[in-house]
Amino acid sequence: MTRIKSPAEPFRIKVVEPLRRSTRAEREAALKKAGYNVFGLPAGKIAIDLLTDSGTSAMSDAQWAGIMMGDESYAGARSFFRFEKAVKNLFGFAHVIPTHQGRAAERILFETILKKGDSVPNNIHFDTTRANVEVRGGIAVDLVKDEAYDPDIERPFKGDMDTAKLERLITAKGKKRIPLVMMTVTNNSGGGQPVSLANIRAVSAVCRRHGIPFFFDACRFAENAWFIKRREPGYARKSVAAIAREMFACADGATMSAKKDALVNIGGFLTLNDGDLASRLKNTLIVGEGFPTYGGLAGRDLEAIAQGLAEVVDEDYLEYRTAHVAYLGRLLDESGVPIFKPVGGHAVYLLADRFLPHIPRDQYPGWALTVALYREAGIRAVEIGGVMFGKLDPKTGREVFPSLEMVRLAIPRRVYTASHLEVVAEALIALHKRRDAIKGLRIVEQAPHLRHFTVRMEELA
Ligand SMILES: Cc1ncc(COP(=O)(O)O)c(C=O)c1O
Repeated sequence: MTRIKSPAEPFRIKVVEPLRRSTRAEREAALKKAGYNVFGLPAGKIAIDLLTDSGTSAMSDAQWAGIMMGDESYAGARSFFRFEKAVKNLFGFAHVIPTHQGRAAERILFETILKKGDSVPNNIHFDTTRANVEVRGGIAVDLVKDEAYDPDIERPFKGDMDTAKLERLITAKGKKRIPLVMMTVTNNSGGGQPVSLANIRAVSAVCRRHGIPFFFDACRFAENAWFIKRREPGYARKSVAAIAREMFACADGATMSAKKDALVNIGGFLTLNDGDLASRLKNTLIVGEGFPTYGGLAGRDLEAIAQGLAEVVDEDYLEYRTAHVAYLGRLLDESGVPIFKPVGGHAVYLLADRFLPHIPRDQYPGWALTVALYREAGIRAVEIGGVMFGKLDPKTGREVFPSLEMVRLAIPRRVYTASHLEVVAEALIALHKRRDAIKGLRIVEQAPHLRHFTVRMEELA
């Protein structure tokens, strides 16, 4: 394999967690038991787990020290005020409402502001955001620029929203039927691609002109701000924290899953300027999550988030983080393994239909690749393709598939070293050489919604 320089980790290891090797026979048995669905595998039987970057970060010594300092008072805990200050320092909004994770923030927001039949635009909705809109009878509309769907175009900001599409939607639906516009940074469902500040400003201007609130889905805001610093003219000398503040100054609020760029294992929040709306959100919060100074979290979790937010804007960390992810992308690309380009902030996406051209879409090539990768090397990845997003057309009775058939290799923050990524690359390169032997699958059991979590499959002969 070509030796490409890997970035040095800007931390050293103080606590270790052993990884267990498994035999091929054990993996074969585990796959069979799980119905050839990697979500059903016990984590103890996985060598390298790239299922998600969410809630899988390694916390720092300062975060663990914060855990010991947590104030567990029911109301008005010291930890809440530290958390609130850290969020306000970066996000700059007037009100901060903790929640137990990102989708709780989404649920509370949409439960409070969305009416049946309303449309919610986004660059691309993440699946929990979409579900929280749709479950209340709303319409989740993806308005990313068309280039986002082309895996070969190397553009710096493939997460940008198309403002012409946004204007057309507002004209068609009327601003009263659009309770807010959302923008996901980085755009997880579109390859983890960043959004430029120029685009954030343009979308904000459209929203302000029409009087529609503008909110970020801010899970990976620091990775997005780093890409702005590196790729957008005029930002090279600004700090990532200053760029983040500039992003948020264009908006009215944000939902946040702290499980990503706050470097913690659980937590989230809502933050916004509108005081009336904040009071209504807090009422909903009290019913389902808890008192507004803890919102479903322990005081120690709030301490860890406050410290994580300070660490995530460290530029040595962000330079390493993005280079670490890009390193895996380069190892694969240079060996001819097809990937989505450019590599995004938190994951490398394999183009499964190009990897396995002999497997037709209705035999789920992305899914087949996740099964083969686990069987080969005990590595877990996730399919983002026909099983996750395929829909039955009621007229023809046939499945309609999304345009991209991908497998996501999400990289947990500060967890795996460059050697682990090399093991992943070697396994994939070996599989790519023997790709003709990989078989498609058929579904034997599935749930009506979010079927990928529990579907059971059978390999075809
Ligand atoms: C873009 C985006 N929004 C929202 C969420 C939901 O966050 P949580 O898993 O904390 O509920 C995620 C989680 O992966 C995400 O990637």
